[in-house]
Amino acid sequence: MTNETTLGTAIIVGVGPGLGLELARAFAAAGHPVAMLARDKARLDGFAAELASIGPDVRGYVTDAADPVNLRSAIGAAIAELGAPDLLVYNVGVLSPDSPTGGDDQDWARNTAINLLGARVAADAVLPALRDGRGSLLFTGGGYALRPSKKFASLSVGKAGLRAYVQMLHDQLTGTAVHATSVTITAGIDGTGRFDPAVIARSYLELHAQPEAEWQHELVY
Ligand SMILES: NC(=O)c1ccc[n+]([C@@H]2O[C@H](COP(=O)([O-])OP(=O)(O)OC[C@H]3O[C@@H](n4cnc5c(N)ncnc54)[C@H](OP(=O)(O)O)[C@@H]3O)[C@@H](O)[C@H]2O)c1
Repeated sequence: MTNETTLGTAIIVGVGPGLGLELARAFAAAGHPVAMLARDKARLDGFAAELASIGPDVRGYVTDAADPVNLRSAIGAAIAELGAPDLLVYNVGVLSPDSPTGGDDQDWARNTAINLLGARVAADAVLPALRDGRGSLLFTGGGYALRPSKKFASLSVGKAGLRAYVQMLHDQLTGTAVHATSVTITAGIDGTGRFDPAVIARSYLELHAQPEAEWQHELVY
């Protein structure tokens, strides 16, 4: 372990220039070591340099969330280097124009692995490692979970499946010290008003700090 912070690591799977970066910034500013997971190492290195001065330790880890072995390995490396996690945010989503029929089966399989299976893999990897057996498992959902679109069929199925998965995970964890919630974002994160990614990121911090009596399986944003 490389730090002596009193807070556990925030593991964020899916960090790009939008919500992911603001989540990393928010949890770093709150004092958590932050592990940022994504595929683009150069971009992650840039984010780590940008956030270096605001938190105890912010590092990038390369992973492909479609590959369970690779994702478990990256999460394991982050925990070994930054310390036991307080929370997971699974923030990956693939916005792929596709339809209920036609298209490529392999694209569907990969998109589903990223939108849905990776969330299960990440939760399963982080849950037993949570510091003192307590913390938060947070998942970024989307409005297509509530109103599917035939123009973004694999994402609609993935986000609906993710929402169901988190509801079950929340139920499974009832009575433990672990809180599982999906944040279902129902409009484009366009930087305006409450759909500013920095504003949305604060709601993840609030969910992590929420008293147990208020725990819920979903925040519809
Ligand atoms: N943007 C919106 O308007 C909007 C609206 C509603 C919901 N959402 C949801 O909000 C979340 C964040 O969206 P965002 O647009 O703000 O994205 P973001 O946080 O800027 O970036 C997410 C990052 O995930 C990484 N990623 C993608 N596929 C991956 C894979 N297979 N393995 C590992 N990392 C992968 C990508 O980085 P690399 O290329 O480096 O891998 C991508 O930049 C998503 O779940 C999305 O569905 C977004």
